[in-house]
Amino acid sequence: MKYSKYSAIIIGSGIAGLYAALKIERTTKLNDGILLVTKSKLGESNSYYAQGGMVGVLKENKADSTASHISDTIKAGAGLSELNTVKFISENSDKVIKDLLNFGVEFDRDEDNKFTFTLEAAHSVRRVLHSGGDATGRMVTTALRQKVSENSNIDIYEETTAVELLVDETNECKGVIVFNNLTGEYEVIYSSAVILATGGIGQLYKYTTNPSGATGDGMSLAFNAGAVMQDMEFVQFHPTALAIDGDENRFLISEAVRGEGAKLVDASGAEFMYKYDERLELAPRDVVTRAIYSEMLKHHTDNVYLNAACIGSEKLAARFPNISKKCLENGIDISKDFIPVAPAAHYMMGGIKTNIHGETSVKGLYAIGEAASTGLHGGNRLASNSLLECVVCAYEVANYLKTLPLNAPKQINETIKSIIEKYSEEIYLEEIDVTSMKEKLKSIMWRGAGIFRSEETLENSLKELEDLKSEFHRSDKCISKQEYEFRNMLTVAEMVIMSALKRKESRGAHCRTDFSDTNEKAVHTSLTRTSLEDFKKILKKQYSANFAGFNDSDFGAAV
Ligand code: FAD
Ligand code: SIN
Repeated sequence: MKYSKYSAIIIGSGIAGLYAALKIERTTKLNDGILLVTKSKLGESNSYYAQGGMVGVLKENKADSTASHISDTIKAGAGLSELNTVKFISENSDKVIKDLLNFGVEFDRDEDNKFTFTLEAAHSVRRVLHSGGDATGRMVTTALRQKVSENSNIDIYEETTAVELLVDETNECKGVIVFNNLTGEYEVIYSSAVILATGGIGQLYKYTTNPSGATGDGMSLAFNAGAVMQDMEFVQFHPTALAIDGDENRFLISEAVRGEGAKLVDASGAEFMYKYDERLELAPRDVVTRAIYSEMLKHHTDNVYLNAACIGSEKLAARFPNISKKCLENGIDISKDFIPVAPAAHYMMGGIKTNIHGETSVKGLYAIGEAASTGLHGGNRLASNSLLECVVCAYEVANYLKTLPLNAPKQINETIKSIIEKYSEEIYLEEIDVTSMKEKLKSIMWRGAGIFRSEETLENSLKELEDLKSEFHRSDKCISKQEYEFRNMLTVAEMVIMSALKRKESRGAHCRTDFSDTNEKAVHTSLTRTSLEDFKKILKKQYSANFAGFNDSDFGAAV
């Protein structure tokens, strides 16, 4: 086993991780250096695929104001957004976006060199910056990745998967164990600041816009290390993913296409959004998703359609070059053909509970980006607020860390030694083919913990999940990246189901068919390892009985 030490370790190389690495390197005194660990190639992430853009509440956009952005975010958040967090992120938007420009990031501008802003659902004004037309994620990630690669003070481990956090009995994180995907070797890395920027969980669902790495690793690692998790039932389903037969990792048709005027229609070309919400195609994402899904269920179809022809071929080609190209590759000319679309799992509003500095409930452990739950998004994220949150929180964690002495820990104790021992033991494990198990898990989650859920569907999912867990004979140590990812997916799936069972109301993206009303008194849900185990024991006793009748207090020590 190899050992090393760093002042700060960042796990993940999406926009949150890349920008945090650059900011920490620039602003903080690092006696032992900085390391960025990422489980595939540098920059491979959800971030890379972002399309619509990044909210920019910029001073030069006279039509906009932080008050308006705060109000839109809170309205979309369905009563669960934290006002202080929303204010902080909105008010820092101008400063941080201007700072990004210093790192080579560019956003699209008009002929007068002024930024162009697009409109997306539930925004009251045009405030979404974009880059490369509909390739915002690729453009921003590529610029930041370039700067990180050129920076000789940032060490980079690619193809390296973080597999367990080193947290001692005083609830302090002292580092992480990583697994080299290519050689199968483990390394213990000590640090007094471990920053999880590991992204979301879309791969838990049969249909998703997320690439294959979105397996909830950071959330699983933090949860297993004792961190408090928040709002894990709030999974956002994007309304319009390209619905091509057999394609389960689905290409996104950006909300900006609806922002520019495209209409949702059925196979005969009839519009239907007027039946669901007066804001029509630009109603909040959860509303549009449920409308589309209801139409699909009602008419027993696999998709509805998006009619973008009204935008005009010239504008479509200039504004949405990648969407036009992808559709054309599939025989769809978006300037005249209907685009088949259906909802797909897209974003995790919940995650590792943090404050605005990225601090989790475990000392020395930080989380930023989609892995974190700062309270910005509440029950339903406003479009393009995720990338803004990634950059503001990356900026802020660097700001916060510069006030702390960052040195690798001098001493480690028995608790940490025993964690390390598990990975140094030479035990023979036969490789498990996780591909079919992963398929099963994704179907279980789509059917039981998807767009519509109920006690019955969640209970069934939990039982099926238990069966699947018993087929997967691993607790800690696995032998491949795929196994580690699957181990983490099982953990996160359980958290999503348990939190969804707990929330006996409908709110934002969490729609319970058996509790369709919103409970005005409902607050955030929290989960810890202990509270989840307690709740599971109660549920197991009741397996044959009805889950109904459980009180919130049955959920254990929710923090
Ligand atoms: P990610 O970008 O997902 O990066 C996570 C990183 O962590 C990856 O590099 C991954 O390899 C690494 N990692 C994970 N686990 C481990 C591990 N165990 N060990 C080592 N490394 C690990 N949001 C917007 O605001 N605007 C948009 O226009 C937009 N469009 C989107 C379009 C698509 C198709 C998708 C999928 C999402 C979109 N989103 C958008 C959401 C947004 O892209 C993400 O929420 C955001 O990019 C998350 O960034 P992140 O840095 O937190 O995580
Ligand atoms: C999109 O372009 O529709 C995605 C925007 C987002 O997820 O915020």
